[in-house]
Amino acid sequence: MVLVSGTGSLLQNIIDNQDNSYRVIKVVADKPCPGIERAQDAGIPAEVVPLGADRAQWNKDLVEAVGAADIVVSAGFMKILGAEFLASFEGRTINTHPALLPSFPGAHGVRDALAYGVKVTGSTVHFVDAGVDTGRIIAQRAITIEPEDDEASLHERIKSVERELIVQVLRAAHVQDQQLIIEI
Ligand code: GAR
Repeated sequence: MVLVSGTGSLLQNIIDNQDNSYRVIKVVADKPCPGIERAQDAGIPAEVVPLGADRAQWNKDLVEAVGAADIVVSAGFMKILGAEFLASFEGRTINTHPALLPSFPGAHGVRDALAYGVKVTGSTVHFVDAGVDTGRIIAQRAITIEPEDDEASLHERIKSVERELIVQVLRAAHVQDQQLIIEI
């Protein structure tokens, strides 16, 4: 089950690479977005759960929407998941982040790395916990920042690495006694 907020290019690669090791059973977004359309085009159930004034209720609605999924993948989902969600899915929710954590957490990982002037950045897949991009790291891949990079070009190169990494992680994942095991 995949959570998205935007373009959904990572989602598309996850869908396109489904095999015996994993299947996408549903896509949930916090707003109408191309990611939802990609799911519909692939014949995958899709639902929008908009964030209203009551954040605790929204987290409960998300739990309802996610349903019986073994693994929740946050792939470009731009909202923080709260305690009500994690009570059901902590340990089985993973996120892909466009920087080498613990550097540059948050919503602007690409911009922040560029602004700091680091020469290497990349992609991190990690467990989601109550913090902002603080959960245990599962896998990382680095790329070099080129002098001519701007935020858009850098993000695109990071995404090309992210698309491969998230599929690799999902292929290495299985659930045992309600615990997500990733042998990578
Ligand atoms: C990806 O780079 C993902 O790591 C990032 O959003 C992009 C989604 O791309 N997520 C975050 O920044 C979460 N903090 P996509 O919509 O093309 O799949």
